[in-house]
Amino acid sequence: MVSSSLYHRSCCDVVCLFLFVLSCCVTSAAPEGAWPWQVSIHRGGGHICGGSLINNLWVLSAAHCFQSHMTGLNTQENANANEVRRTIVELINHESYNPSTNDNDIALLKMASTVTFTNYIRPVCLAASGSTFHAGTDSWITGWGSIGSGISLPSPQNLMEVEMPVIGNRKCKCDYAGVFLINDNMICAGLEAGGKDSCQGDSGGPMVSKQNSRWIQSGVVSFGRGCARPNNPGVYARVSRYQSWINSKITENQPGFITFTSSGTDSDLSASCSSVPPLTTTPPPTTTTPLLRRLLPLLRRLLPVVCGQAPLNSLASNGTSVSAGQWPWVASVQKNHTHMCGGSLITENAVLTDASCFSRSVSKNWVFYFLKGLDASWSFLYSLLVTNITVSNTSGSNVAVLHLASSLTLSDHVQPICVDTELSFSDGTSCYSAGWGQQGATGQYLEQVKTTVQSCGTGSSSESFCTGVFTLEQVTDWDTPTAY
Ligand code: ARG
Repeated sequence: MVSSSLYHRSCCDVVCLFLFVLSCCVTSAAPEGAWPWQVSIHRGGGHICGGSLINNLWVLSAAHCFQSHMTGLNTQENANANEVRRTIVELINHESYNPSTNDNDIALLKMASTVTFTNYIRPVCLAASGSTFHAGTDSWITGWGSIGSGISLPSPQNLMEVEMPVIGNRKCKCDYAGVFLINDNMICAGLEAGGKDSCQGDSGGPMVSKQNSRWIQSGVVSFGRGCARPNNPGVYARVSRYQSWINSKITENQPGFITFTSSGTDSDLSASCSSVPPLTTTPPPTTTTPLLRRLLPLLRRLLPVVCGQAPLNSLASNGTSVSAGQWPWVASVQKNHTHMCGGSLITENAVLTDASCFSRSVSKNWVFYFLKGLDASWSFLYSLLVTNITVSNTSGSNVAVLHLASSLTLSDHVQPICVDTELSFSDGTSCYSAGWGQQGATGQYLEQVKTTVQSCGTGSSSESFCTGVFTLEQVTDWDTPTAY
């Protein structure tokens, strides 16, 4: 474990000074219990590699630690009050581990018996596949490895810790071009200036990052060029690439996988060198606006008209005064130039009205007028013939849909209304009704009333809903009806 910082929370002054004179490295001892998943793997009585506890029976480590035949591996190095020792009964090196490229440098070790978790012995979380560790992600690496190339950890051989950022894979590939092949199964960490790194003896140990309150293992110490050299980051097996491999080997009591997520854009995307060509800049996402704008005239003809828009509706007043365009869907259903019923435009060529309007005389020769609104005399925008009438056929009140001879051109004063298909208006909902009442027949103003949806009481049909009593008496039962 190598770190160049001169000021560490538990650094021994003598060692610091000694190492400083050597112009090498200063190490930082980890507080007791700080990394409760840290494992020391022994062979023949001595520490050979690190590892991490991933559940109560399994340890994750590096495949290159177990290349020679070995027996009797134990966890933990120095005898201390909190240590636990276990013999390794099963070693699973990754089947595709390649010693010449260091690819898939990962291994699983099964202990002879489970360990009991304490404050000092706990498993680490593993980075789930799909985790992202952007360049700069704050990471910690722990181990009993050398504190500089060729300088083994001095007595009392405390567990060491070092903090450093992730180096993105593009940058790492550039750093190692012609030396090592860095692939997606690897993750790098270190400082461009060097000075902080894992080193010989740290292999197999964990690199972790904290997300919320959890520590998640992102890497397994694997290799590097020397230790702590500038632009030669440490290389780690990328744990998130091995979730399915680990899950396939550990069938019961699987370790905890958590997705580590880096926010924003990975600054590594801008790294490039001769062996790592710059990413071809993807054009900014095309906005649909220009195309839509060009297609708008066509869309207007093809798509159902937009409904429910009343650009001039201020809804400032609740009285009888209606400004022009306030209810652009309200139609006057007239016969022989006499107002008979109110109706509402529901498409460019259909008007919804009350079927009872036609109970006396259903005629296809009725004429519709769309009013501007406020004019004292009738001021028609449109006058269209009805070509067809469809009347609903339920036991209660019925509605009629009147089909117009041609489509209306929509404007601020002529807009269709949205039709509720779900009976979704609960009691107490505010609503408006607008119409001409009996005065409509004599050419009066369009008037509006505001009321609320109310329970119809027993005996009412489910096809109706009721409103409060209208205060405008001129709204009669053959105008815009009170039961809809
Ligand atoms: N292979 C080394 C070991 O067995 C670890 C090397 C890590 N090197 C580095 N520069 N980070 O312990």
